[in-house]
Amino acid sequence: MKALLLIGGKGTRLRPFTCRTPKPLLPVLNRPFVEYQLDILKRHGIREAILCTAYRTGDFRRALSNGHSSGVALRFLQERVPLGTGGAVRNAQGLDDDTLLVLNGDVLNTLDVGAFLRAHRRARTEASIALTRVKDPTLYGLVETGADGLVKRFLEKPSWDEITCNTINAGAYLFEPSAVALIPPGVPYSLERGLFPSLLHRGRRVLGYVTPGYWMDIGTVEKYLQVHLDILGGATPFRPAGLKRRGAFWLGAGARLGRETAHEGAGTVALGARASVGDFARLAGSVSLGADVVVGRGASLEDCVVLDGARIGDGARLERCVVGRRCRIGHHASIGAGRALGDGSSLTPFSQL
Ligand code: GDD
Ligand code: MG
Repeated sequence: MKALLLIGGKGTRLRPFTCRTPKPLLPVLNRPFVEYQLDILKRHGIREAILCTAYRTGDFRRALSNGHSSGVALRFLQERVPLGTGGAVRNAQGLDDDTLLVLNGDVLNTLDVGAFLRAHRRARTEASIALTRVKDPTLYGLVETGADGLVKRFLEKPSWDEITCNTINAGAYLFEPSAVALIPPGVPYSLERGLFPSLLHRGRRVLGYVTPGYWMDIGTVEKYLQVHLDILGGATPFRPAGLKRRGAFWLGAGARLGRETAHEGAGTVALGARASVGDFARLAGSVSLGADVVVGRGASLEDCVVLDGARIGDGARLERCVVGRRCRIGHHASIGAGRALGDGSSLTPFSQL
């Protein structure tokens, strides 16, 4: 079975970080996010993935240039105009006439592909949707199922008064070629607003398969931060790759911790290759520092993400924020919760954000 990754979105809710980098290539603990998904495919014996791109395709080709990442052979399929989630799947038709696994490119989860496929075969459906439970379904595709597990209703981004359950589309599907054939070719088309409602309208059977375990869509700045905190806090089965654990710290090659650097609270701190933390710095909760990040003396960082090459001045304070690549944060500046600084931003000393 081949997998198809939907990675053609512009990632607008994750701006400013996606202005120059497509969402699936943003680093999560110093690895492009898409590699986590390729690892999952590999673990489940999938050896070939079709990458459906529409935005900054060249970036993907460069980042995954050997065409073979995590032991999965990659094939790029570029849309001249974005075809939407459904149009992208239809565009790949003909490359394979077997059951197809389709994944949204911005979800980290622990989907058991084998169990999903067995449930799909047992139910003999043309299309099956993996589901997860969330507190706020308005941000996702609401999927209502019956006692037999078959989907009764699919409603993308419902309003609060339309919510009838807490199961949503987890962004993983299994399709038979007969379902893909229902998608109109060559035009933008949505799986969520087009294909699924249309299948149900025609009385075709669609399975809803609830996947247990961790699930996160990294599509907003808040969730991008949260996925780091979850991994570093041990709430997922994923671990920082290529870093060595020392107490509450994960250290990359050449990373340095100054004298009397203290860690407080639950969680862990990752330092990418050559990152350094100055003397007397205070690190609290979970903190991810990219490669070549420099944190000054006595700085205080709590639950935050600092991307490659950024410099945090002496005595600066960062809390629940994301600092982009090569940012310059002046000494004693402070950045509060929910802030996102795009790549290359500078903050003068003592600024308060
Ligand atoms: N190739 C291609 N072409 N990919 C696209 C296009 C396109 O035109 N448009 C979007 N995508 C990709 C995005 O890159 C992303 O990986 C995936 O499709 C989903 O798009 P998002 O923009 O992230 O959608 P969402 O998060 O609002 O909602 C979707 O995901 C939720 C789960 O995370 C929907 O599928 C919801 O139903 C679902 O609950
Ligand atoms: Mg998304």
